[in-house]
Amino acid sequence: MREGLVIRPARAEDCDAIDGVIRAAFAATGFGHQGEAELMRMLKADGDAMVSLVAAADRAIVGHVLFSRMDVEADGRAITAAGLAPVSVAPAQQGQGIGDALIRAGLRDLREQGVAMSFVLGHETYYPRFGYSPDLAARFASPFAGRHFMAMMLDSDASWPQGGRADYAPAFGRLG
Ligand SMILES: CC(C)(COP(=O)(O)OP(=O)(O)OC[C@H]1O[C@@H](n2cnc3c(N)ncnc32)[C@H](O)[C@@H]1OP(=O)(O)O)[C@@H](O)C(=O)NCCC(=O)NCCS
Repeated sequence: MREGLVIRPARAEDCDAIDGVIRAAFAATGFGHQGEAELMRMLKADGDAMVSLVAAADRAIVGHVLFSRMDVEADGRAITAAGLAPVSVAPAQQGQGIGDALIRAGLRDLREQGVAMSFVLGHETYYPRFGYSPDLAARFASPFAGRHFMAMMLDSDASWPQGGRADYAPAFGRLG
């Protein structure tokens, strides 16, 4: 990761800067989907944000990642799980390992909190490097089922559940 870059927990006063990074990152994808900034605000307002980190360079915020509480049942038991979304890096700063550093730091924080699983809906060439697997997610009933839906056990020694159900926080259902 680039020298001088700091990964730290997001603070209340970072909100507008995070919003700017999310909007710029998603606008640059060409999909024109701008709902992620609103999603982040709703997740925080609902108290469903579990880990929210920023990447700061010279005090400017250049990246952000949020993990939010999910409602997950594995082999008939409720377990703690966090959904990764959104993750964004300012377009001019992409491809330098900032997204990688944010995601790894977030997963470390979740492990420290004793969270059992994480899920992500995203590109199947990017997320497996962190340990996410479409085969594990396929064991869970979800409206997002498909190869883009991936999951990981945060304790790498834990055995995979046989089956279950995975639902994102209510804010995802309110996304326009
Ligand atoms: C996805 C994102 C957060 C990655 O951050 P980053 O700092 O650019 O990523 P890193 O430098 O850590 O990693 C670069 C790698 O990610 C890959 N990558 C970046 N965006 C990708 C995408 N949308 N799909 C697939 N791979 C992607 C690059 O090809 C590169 O792969 P390589 O290491 O095999 O060469 C950033 O590109 C971004 O903000 N994109 C727009 C918003 C977005 O699509 N968010 C994810 C929604 S699922």
